[in-house]
Amino acid sequence: MPLLEIKALTKNFGGLAAVSNVDMTLDQDQLVGLIGPNGAGKTTLFNLITGVYEPSEGDVLLEADGKVQRLNGEKPYHIADLGLSRTFQNIRLFKDLSVLDNVLIAMNSKNKEGFVASVLRLPKFYQKESEMRAEARRLLEIFDLQAKAENLARNLPYGEQRRLEIVRALATKPKILFLDEPAAGMNPQETAELTELIRKIQKEFHITILLIEHDMSLVMEVCERIYVLEYGRILAEGTPAEIKSNPEVIKAYLGGDL
Ligand SMILES: Nc1ncnc2c1ncn2[C@@H]1O[C@H](COP(=O)(O)OP(=O)(O)OP(=O)(O)O)[C@@H](O)[C@H]1O
Ligand SMILES: [Mg+2]
Repeated sequence: MPLLEIKALTKNFGGLAAVSNVDMTLDQDQLVGLIGPNGAGKTTLFNLITGVYEPSEGDVLLEADGKVQRLNGEKPYHIADLGLSRTFQNIRLFKDLSVLDNVLIAMNSKNKEGFVASVLRLPKFYQKESEMRAEARRLLEIFDLQAKAENLARNLPYGEQRRLEIVRALATKPKILFLDEPAAGMNPQETAELTELIRKIQKEFHITILLIEHDMSLVMEVCERIYVLEYGRILAEGTPAEIKSNPEVIKAYLGGDL
């Protein structure tokens, strides 16, 4: 049974089928790529899976403890609680808070049972608080942001803000992480470093990752499987080698440097 199964998923915006009859499976511990030209429906697919939009048709099914749960129409916070976490194509940080606080807020969103303890300032609260800080610093270290923990998020260079976004998404301890163009706007050096990091976190945290990326070299290098979307439909699915040599894909990219 796949961890996440998408069946005949469709989203219509007026007359436009932004996502059309999409089937997709994500297995445990897989790093899967999602590519396609601008406007192909990649972000819309993330929005459907994470509850930002309700599907017009089709199903999003999550396997958890041997049971299958239907995510269609569930609220984003409920889907996040079930272990699906994402980053956004446009950076969404609390720019006037510190780097560390940005991570702690993301963790807190998962720590509702700690609310009573925190209001009453029970000993449990202080213990939990210090555990969370340690965990946040550990994540920042993995992403080489530990020296910036007390800086305001807005003062980080662009590439570091992108990395902080991923730290925030990981802070919720997701089962599945959805990354929407994490290398957008990065220089080649930063992109190469991020490629390494994505591979590392996928292994270290045993998570499943679906990665939207325009940088083909990044996708081809790190992904085990790749889905190609065009005009809202799946054009191809396969290993990087299969995708690279697929005539339909080459045509869709107009002979671009795949
Ligand atoms: N809320 C919305 N209302 C109407 N149309 C929308 C909405 N969101 C997306 N679309 C349209 O759906 C199509 C798919 O958009 P989407 O953002 O999913 O593409 P994408 O593959 O992520 O593109 P990009 O690579 O540029 O990020 C586009 O034609 C877009 O204009
Ligand atoms: Mg997009």
